[in-house]
Amino acid sequence: MDQRKMHGVWGNRWTFILAATGSAVGLGNIWKFPYITGENGGGAFVLVYLVCIALVGIPVMMAEVLIGRRGRMSPINSMRYVTREAGLHGAWTAIGWMGVVAGLMIMAFYSVVAGWALNYVLLAATGQLSSLSGAAAGELFGGFLGDTNRLLVFHSLFSLLTFAVVAAGVTRGLGMVARILMPFLFAVLLVLLVYGVVEGNFSAAFGFLFDFKFDKLSMSGVLVALGHAFFTLSLGMGAIMAYGAYMPEHANVSRTIITVGVLDTAVALIAGLAIFPVVFANPGMEPGSGPGLMFVSLPVAFGSMPAGEIFATLFFLLVAVAAWSSAVSLIEPGAAWLVETGKLKRAPATFLLTLVAWCGGVGCVLSNNWLGDNPDGLHIFESLDFLTSQIMLPLGGLFIAIFVGWLMRRAIVVSEMDAEEHPLFDIWLFIVRFVSPALIAVVMIASLYDKLVS
Ligand code: PHE
Repeated sequence: MDQRKMHGVWGNRWTFILAATGSAVGLGNIWKFPYITGENGGGAFVLVYLVCIALVGIPVMMAEVLIGRRGRMSPINSMRYVTREAGLHGAWTAIGWMGVVAGLMIMAFYSVVAGWALNYVLLAATGQLSSLSGAAAGELFGGFLGDTNRLLVFHSLFSLLTFAVVAAGVTRGLGMVARILMPFLFAVLLVLLVYGVVEGNFSAAFGFLFDFKFDKLSMSGVLVALGHAFFTLSLGMGAIMAYGAYMPEHANVSRTIITVGVLDTAVALIAGLAIFPVVFANPGMEPGSGPGLMFVSLPVAFGSMPAGEIFATLFFLLVAVAAWSSAVSLIEPGAAWLVETGKLKRAPATFLLTLVAWCGGVGCVLSNNWLGDNPDGLHIFESLDFLTSQIMLPLGGLFIAIFVGWLMRRAIVVSEMDAEEHPLFDIWLFIVRFVSPALIAVVMIASLYDKLVS
C-alpha cells in the first residue's frame, strides 16, 4: 500500500496554523529572544532578526511545508520521495537525517530550560517569588542552578510530558493545547506588557529594542540573529516539514505560513517589551545578563503586582505549556520515521528518542556551566545551542531553499503551494532561489571569517 495514503490529515487549515504556532511559539520567543537581544546590544539586533524572519524564515518555511505536503511522510521519507521524484541523488535525504539529529540535540537543552519554568511554577504557587528584590531574585535563580537534583527532577518531568504527547500522536495530542492555552499565553503577556508600561521604565525598554545602533552589533551577532530566525520558527530541522505532511490537500500555504510567522514574531516582541521595562527599572539588573534574564526580572515584576502570585504561577505555567507544544515537534520527525520503518510502534519509538535527548539533558545539567560559572567545563549546554541554532538549522534551511528553488519541478511547486497564477508566487520563488540562500551563505561565511581572524 502506498505509505503516503496512510498518513492522517489535520482537520482544517486552522488546526495546522495552531499546531505550527504551537511548535514555533516557545522558549525561543519568551526566554531566548529577550536575552540574546540583551546580549547583542538591542535595536540593531532586533532589526536584523526581523529582516531574517521576512527574507529567510518565512520563505523557507513555505518551502519546508511544501516538501512535507508533497511527501506526506516523516521528513526523512518525504525527502526521499521528493528526491526520487526529481531524479536526484539520494544524498539529499541527509536534510531529513540531519533534522532528526538536530531535533534531539535541541530537545536536550530545551527540556532542561523548560524544567526551570516548571520549577518556577512551583515556586510561584507556593509564594516563594513574592516581593523579591532584584538581587534576591538573582540569588534564588543562582541557587536553583546549583541544585543538580532539582534540575534533574524537572528536566525528567518535562521529558516525560513530551513523551506522552508524541506517543499519543501529535494530531490527537495537540488540539487543546493550541486552541485554548496559546491565546491564554498571549493574554498574560499582554497583562505583563501593560504592567511594564505603567510601572516599569517602558521608554528605556522601547528605545533599547528599537533604536538601531549598529556599532553595538558584531558579525557573530548577525549570525545569532539569523540562527534565531530559524530556531524561533522551528525551521531547518524538519519539524515544520513533519507538520506540513498533515496539511490538507487544498490550503493556501503562503497565507497560512505568514499567519504563523507574524504570530511568532508578535509574541517575541511582546515578551521583549514586557521584560525590558522591568530590567531598566531595577538598577541591579543588566539587559545582557544572559539566560537567567526572564527568571530574574519577571519575578520582581510579579512581586509588586496586585495578585502577582497568581499571575506568576499562570505565566510560568503557560511558558511551560508553550515549551511543551514546541518540544513535541522536536521529537516528532524522528518518531514518525521510526514508525514508518515498521520496526517499532509509536510508543517505544518515542520512548527511545526521548531517552536519547534526556541523556543529553543530563549532560547539560551535570556540566552545569550555562552561566559561565565553570569556565573550564565542557559547556555542553552552550555547544548544543550553538551547533544547532547557528550551524545545523541554517544549513538545513539553505539546502531546503536550494532544493525547492532550483531542483523541484516548477509544476509541482506551484500545485503544492496552491498558487496557480498568483502574482506573489514569482516573488516568493525569486526569494527562495536567490535571496535566502545568498543571505544564509554570506552570514555564515562572514561570521566564520570573523571568528578566524579575531
Ligand atoms: N521554535 C521553538 C521555540 O521558539 C523551538 C523549536 C526549534 C521547536 C526547532 C522545534 C524545532 O521555542
